[in-house]
Amino acid sequence: MSGRNPVPATRRGRYILALLVVAALGGAIALVSHRRPQGHAPSGAPTFVGGKTCAPCHTEETHLWAGSHHDHAMGVASEQSVVGDFNGEVLRATHERHPGDRDLLVALATISRDSGIQQAAQQYAAALVAVAPWDSEARRLQQEMSGP
Ligand code: HEC
Repeated sequence: MSGRNPVPATRRGRYILALLVVAALGGAIALVSHRRPQGHAPSGAPTFVGGKTCAPCHTEETHLWAGSHHDHAMGVASEQSVVGDFNGEVLRATHERHPGDRDLLVALATISRDSGIQQAAQQYAAALVAVAPWDSEARRLQQEMSGP
């Protein structure tokens, strides 16, 4: 091809050199400005740093979070920190208010069985069948409870 060259050879050289300088500068600026804020910079393998690490910079969020359900949810389970009742007391109280609730009866029957309170398990299972005589699952549970 012998088409007309719009830029003379020497000017073209300078033009390419200028482009290279601009590209190099741009790359350097991009590298410097892309650095993450301190505290977020990853160093080695990720580890759990805990909320205290974040508090100095995120004071408002830390204040809102402290003492919240999310804060407590991350706590270590102990006599003091666990507020739930896992002895079935809440279920029994609810059952007294809603004696015909099928799901409650299923839960009480199985919890009683798992706790080794066979007599209560049988009573709840019998109540369950009385509430839902059409329910084959209820009858199966009652049979299971009356077994050895
Ligand atoms: C040294 C100060 C500093 C520390 C320590 C710090 N952050 Fe940040 N964080 C910032 C700054 C500044 C921003 C906003 C700038 C940005 O988005 O890059 C930010 C932004 C955030 C955002 C994004 C918020 C949004 O609205 O998009 C989250 C999420 C966050 N940080 C969580 C954390 C957590 C979790 C920790 C602790 C493990 C932590 N930060 C520790 C300074 C910090």
